[in-house]
Amino acid sequence: MKNNIITRAKKLFTPALAFHTDIIVKKAQGLYVEATDGRRYMDFSSGLATTNIGHCPSKVIEAAKKQFDEIIHSGCTFRYNSEILFAEKLKEITPGKLDMFFFSNSGAEAVEGAIKLARFVTKRQGIIAYTGAFHGRTMGAISLTASTAKYRQNYHPLLTSIFRAPYPYCYRCFLGQNPDTCNMDCISYLKNILRYEINTDEVAAIIIEPVLGEGGYVVPPMNYLKELRRLCAEYGILMIADEVQTGFGRTGKWFACEHFGVVPDIMTIAKGIASGFPLSAVASTKAIMSKWPPGAHGTTFGGNPVSCAAGIATIGTIKADKLLENAAKVGKYAMNRLKDMQKKYPVMGDVRGLGLMIGIEFVKRGGSPDREFLKKVLNGCYKKGLILIECGIDKNIIRFMPPLITTMKEMEKALEIFEKAVAKTTS
Ligand SMILES: Cc1ncc(COP(=O)(O)O)c(C=O)c1O
Repeated sequence: MKNNIITRAKKLFTPALAFHTDIIVKKAQGLYVEATDGRRYMDFSSGLATTNIGHCPSKVIEAAKKQFDEIIHSGCTFRYNSEILFAEKLKEITPGKLDMFFFSNSGAEAVEGAIKLARFVTKRQGIIAYTGAFHGRTMGAISLTASTAKYRQNYHPLLTSIFRAPYPYCYRCFLGQNPDTCNMDCISYLKNILRYEINTDEVAAIIIEPVLGEGGYVVPPMNYLKELRRLCAEYGILMIADEVQTGFGRTGKWFACEHFGVVPDIMTIAKGIASGFPLSAVASTKAIMSKWPPGAHGTTFGGNPVSCAAGIATIGTIKADKLLENAAKVGKYAMNRLKDMQKKYPVMGDVRGLGLMIGIEFVKRGGSPDREFLKKVLNGCYKKGLILIECGIDKNIIRFMPPLITTMKEMEKALEIFEKAVAKTTS
């Protein structure tokens, strides 16, 4: 039966859309996914960092069902309660004064909205993005994305006036520096872009993932984001934090920026926002948003009533069940255990992360990426019922990104499976 479904799928869908496993789901609940062949898996991929409160959470289902009886689509014709209530709830959790929103459906759409907003209100064209960044697949977003040239192949020309700064990826510094002796040369590099390539008063925005996602689960040095914030403020450049992957509790706080004590001018939010219902948001201040007049941007499906109801229930569940605290606690435990493992297995070149956004970089002796090792570990985990996925340009980094509901016991079980797979591949 399984082969039959895969064969049918292959006839119907473009191969451009790659799948991480060939599991056919019968039922997904909480951390677990049950396949049609009877196997059960711990989903440490969280549906690409989206089912932050687990699969099919009861409160979200309840809220969605209730919403079905009222209205399921408005298309910017009518106002409805769930959208307004959700915006009010979102306003309570976004940092600083990010208290006005534009709702859309996906991360890429939110990124498109953010760059349009930045260009519109500053009347400047330049945008600085990072090497290693992933901001989505639409033409605007892909112009900012540089996690691999493969994603951009054959799509040129892309948006113009995009400039590229090196992400502060200290384990593999793009500038060849060593963290012990480096003086944040990546900030000097950024300043040079503003001297050699584009005037400060022509730059609309600098867009950054507060923790690099697809590009390798990289946590920047604490001071980097602070210095970036300072630079943006000095030159009237809008700082956009792409919190599509890092937001909604993933790092143990509502938004990763909070770890760095930084409030951006614009924030993009998606993925975990509505537990799998399509919804995303551009958040900004009243001062910025009020310069974006009616008609300057729009949407048919954005802010869908059911998605908003799901968003309200998602925020409610994260608060009621103290899931930020749980993510921080379970994440810290995992990080310590993985750091201990790292001492035993030199193939685990780097272990890094915040909360439940943890990356483990596999390397050969000498430090070059070890993709083959990773593949064996992933396969070993998969056979034992643990779904993990990879990231990074060389696909040699495993992401631990389970839902925020993961218990210590479940984390320990996953770590045991992972360690056995590493030990087996090492021997
Ligand atoms: C940081 C970041 N921005 C944007 C996106 C694009 O989101 P979507 O796939 O919902 O368009 C992603 C997706 O992985 C992401 O991680």
